[in-house]
Amino acid sequence: MMMENQLPPAVSEETAFSLLSGELTANPFPMLAQMRSQGALAPLPLPMGGAGHQTWMITRMEEAVRVLKDHARFTVNPTSIGGEDFFRASRADATSDQSAFMISVDEPDHRRLRRLVSAAFTPRYIESLRPQIQRIADELLDTVQNQGQMDLVADYAYPLPINVISDMLGVPHADRPQIRVWSEALVTGISGMGRRDEQTLAHMQAFDAYARHLVALKRQHPADDLTSQLVQMEEAGDHLSEAELLSMISLLIFAGHETTSNLIGIGTLTLLDHPDQLAKLQADLSLVPSAVEELLRFNGPVFTGVPRFATEDLELAGQRITKGDALVIALPSANRDEAQFTQPDELDIARTLNRHIAFGQGIHICLGAPLARLEGDIAFTTLLTRMPNLHLGVPRESITWRISSNVRGLTALPVAF
Ligand code: HEM
Repeated sequence: MMMENQLPPAVSEETAFSLLSGELTANPFPMLAQMRSQGALAPLPLPMGGAGHQTWMITRMEEAVRVLKDHARFTVNPTSIGGEDFFRASRADATSDQSAFMISVDEPDHRRLRRLVSAAFTPRYIESLRPQIQRIADELLDTVQNQGQMDLVADYAYPLPINVISDMLGVPHADRPQIRVWSEALVTGISGMGRRDEQTLAHMQAFDAYARHLVALKRQHPADDLTSQLVQMEEAGDHLSEAELLSMISLLIFAGHETTSNLIGIGTLTLLDHPDQLAKLQADLSLVPSAVEELLRFNGPVFTGVPRFATEDLELAGQRITKGDALVIALPSANRDEAQFTQPDELDIARTLNRHIAFGQGIHICLGAPLARLEGDIAFTTLLTRMPNLHLGVPRESITWRISSNVRGLTALPVAF
């Protein structure tokens, strides 16, 4: 039987906006802790599921996992239940076909699309890229080693993952710097809460056009890369449509670098903020893989992922959820849940029980997690080995964060060594 709905204290419009507009992106944790203490679900004054539907922010681990794993009762595609699609609508004026992204379709289409690319992301295949990723990391540090300083974001954290995913997809070298400008626009513009000026829209459209250009290039000149393989699958007929092909390429480029570069950027800042943990890591670099997990948990780069929508009336954490209600999962909040982690607000690079959900959960769990982990491993190991005296190059308070609702990242990180 359904419980009477006793709504927890409503989140004020101001709080909701500051969380979702990215204003609190540098340190959302006190606000999230307060919301978590009031309940697993916080009603947000935002009609994401359309008029008459409640939007909820999920703050605790148990409920977050339950929603992410139950894809039958929580869809990523509200149009499948007659609702409006906030996520797609926010991009509809910028990109062509919004219904074809693997991340925003349900089964069976999701399974079909994911299967097409999954072979390129198995842990075993990804491990085979280690020498190539190591070479990229070393070359980037070779360029700055003698300068004694760098912007860790522009010189290392950004170019490392974009070069790796571009090599996989066959993106020509000359095109790579431009992708940063376009994907920056996606980061700030995708949610509809960030800046959406004409220039942002133009950049989003340019990114879309670029996927078309890359596909045309690979049609004419097939090569040994993932884009060419996908083009051949599309040409073979029944595997994926042209819209799905284009969406897949832009998703892989975008997801393949934005998140990981922010893991490296935020992760380095977090280590510099915790000198005891940094020293512990420098003394024993075999701890890097577990440090990467802890940095993902403690200060992960993804705030919410894609909203879910209830496909039926149901009850969650004592709240009545109505079909069509939207659920926004605050991943960094679940990752600091007191019921899940001991001393969640402590950074412990040797943490053993660390079942975080920085990569999500369920059928949409991050496809690129093995790649992100390997890049993180190589990036931190190489940085700390080659620059043992790493320290901030500017006062701590001058470090700024980008304004974005779902991808957390630094604008720059000047360091000296
Ligand atoms: C630290 C780095 C990364 C983090 C924290 C991260 C986080 C996430 C999260 C939270 C999701 C699930 C979103 C949701 O369910 O709403 C996701 C999905 C996804 N990620 Fe990542 N990601 C990272 C790196 C990568 C990389 C390197 C790639 C490579 C291409 C990638 C590709 C994808 C794709 C394709 C999906 C959609 C999967 C699906 O719908 O089945 N990600 N990621």
